[in-house]
Amino acid sequence: MRIEAYERIFMILAGLMLVLGIVGIGIGALVAGVHVPSPAGRIDPRALSTTPPFDQPGLRDLGGGKYEAVVIARAWQFQPDEIQVPVGATVTFTLASPDVIHGFVLTGTNANVMVIPGQISQVTARFDQPGEYLWVCHEYCGFGHHQMYGKVVVR
Ligand code: CUA
Repeated sequence: MRIEAYERIFMILAGLMLVLGIVGIGIGALVAGVHVPSPAGRIDPRALSTTPPFDQPGLRDLGGGKYEAVVIARAWQFQPDEIQVPVGATVTFTLASPDVIHGFVLTGTNANVMVIPGQISQVTARFDQPGEYLWVCHEYCGFGHHQMYGKVVVR
């Protein structure tokens, strides 16, 4: 079989672009420290309300300015939907869903994670400025999706 010279050149160029693209993404991920959020654990979504720590959602003071916020994302509310921490607090959000896929994005921070039934999701954010930081569900989850939000109040 004979391949035209132009066709051969285009095939080589297309192959090179593919390889360069993949290498570029790899280097970018390494240099920028980009990583895909991975599940912090597994959980039976049907038993969420009886499985620690989700049997007692809310804020825990871990000492030294560190906090853990255990938050359930369910159709269609976050529980709790407000936490209050002092300025300088570092808060790790531990999230899980008993029903469908939800999202969690916290404005003014880079905390952004999906909340998938069966998985525990974790993101950490530090709050150096006083104010209110809104978080919203950014994964369409049905009729009441737009009502799913909450906030961190930093004083
Ligand atoms: Cu939950 Cu959208």
